[in-house]
Amino acid sequence: MARQIKENVFFLSARDWNNRLFDALIPLPDGTSYNAYLVKGSDKTVLIDTVEPKMANVLFDQLKNEKKIDYIISLHAEQDHSGAIPMVLEKYPNAKVITSTKGKDLIIEHLSIPEEKIITVEDGEELSLGNKTLKFIHYPWVHWPETMLAYLKEDKILITCDFFGSHLATTDMYVTDECKTYESAKRYYAEIMMPYRKLIQKNFSKLDEYDIDIIAPSHGPMYDKPQFIVNAYKDWLSDTVKNIVVIPYISMHGSVEKMVQYLVHCLEQKGVKAYLFDLTVTDIGQLAITLVDAATIVIATPTVIGEPHPMVTYATIIANLLKPKAKFISVIASYAWGGKAIEKIAQLTPNIKAELIDPILVKGHPQKSDFEAIEKLANKIYEKHSENNLKN
Ligand code: FEO
Repeated sequence: MARQIKENVFFLSARDWNNRLFDALIPLPDGTSYNAYLVKGSDKTVLIDTVEPKMANVLFDQLKNEKKIDYIISLHAEQDHSGAIPMVLEKYPNAKVITSTKGKDLIIEHLSIPEEKIITVEDGEELSLGNKTLKFIHYPWVHWPETMLAYLKEDKILITCDFFGSHLATTDMYVTDECKTYESAKRYYAEIMMPYRKLIQKNFSKLDEYDIDIIAPSHGPMYDKPQFIVNAYKDWLSDTVKNIVVIPYISMHGSVEKMVQYLVHCLEQKGVKAYLFDLTVTDIGQLAITLVDAATIVIATPTVIGEPHPMVTYATIIANLLKPKAKFISVIASYAWGGKAIEKIAQLTPNIKAELIDPILVKGHPQKSDFEAIEKLANKIYEKHSENNLKN
């Protein structure tokens, strides 16, 4: 059932406990939720966002006592929030849809909503519901071009859709376990928001003018201590990297395994934190989380038919798409008879604007000179991190 946040403001959540893969791409160890918000002013009633269409029945169950909805606000046109709007319009045929100008085109294209049902709002525009007022804040690229936020002035609630969200199915309305939520929100940020870090960073000061008691996202629990997630985002969005090396790898016959284990050992000796990810068993979300802060990425791969191992290629493509803020990158490759694994990895990472530290290429089983090269790589990484005064 709908749960009250403040007087006449309600949290409507559909929890997707068993979903383990979002967008057929993103692992969800803790499921997810789709939150909508109902605000009943003295004159008008609005529904802010909806839920994933397959869970529309859960939303309608929470709306069963609502005779009238005047406006459905679409803060974001992606279908996990907008997909049930046509069904809500069927049930409430007099309702109009409010969205941003860019959102209008998207919901027409994706949901076939008739143009005459749509009202667009500008950045900073206000909507009076009688005794309550919503202010719209255009905040593009969290994580689509049309995204906006809504601030409920009288109740000091900032409704943010994907922004500040976490993939976390829970019966808690508000964050109760900050460690758990931090990890889920960071996973969410890494996979969804990190590619747009610079754009999000640019607009972040827009939030300064608002007195916010509650941040209400459309995935995961709400924040009744908003500073917790605002501070976490400030850290993730910043240009600061940490004294961390992330090493995604595959080993087929043990050569790469020996080299990456030795690299971790050497880094450890120098006080550099290292995370090793064997891509045959890695949760790609965990790798993404580590990329949020890492100063250095070392990709390690055997050569398969002249190319990097396909699982390394896949992880490298994902890392490149996520645009991590790493400052240094290197490659360790092994081969049996030939190939261009190192060159291929370099071609796959145009978005990672990092300085290349000399890669290491090993034929067959690593020899003494190869281990010496690994030691040299670790020393170089340590020097670079020290020069930049990086902290853990
Ligand atoms: Fe939760 Fe961008 O959708």
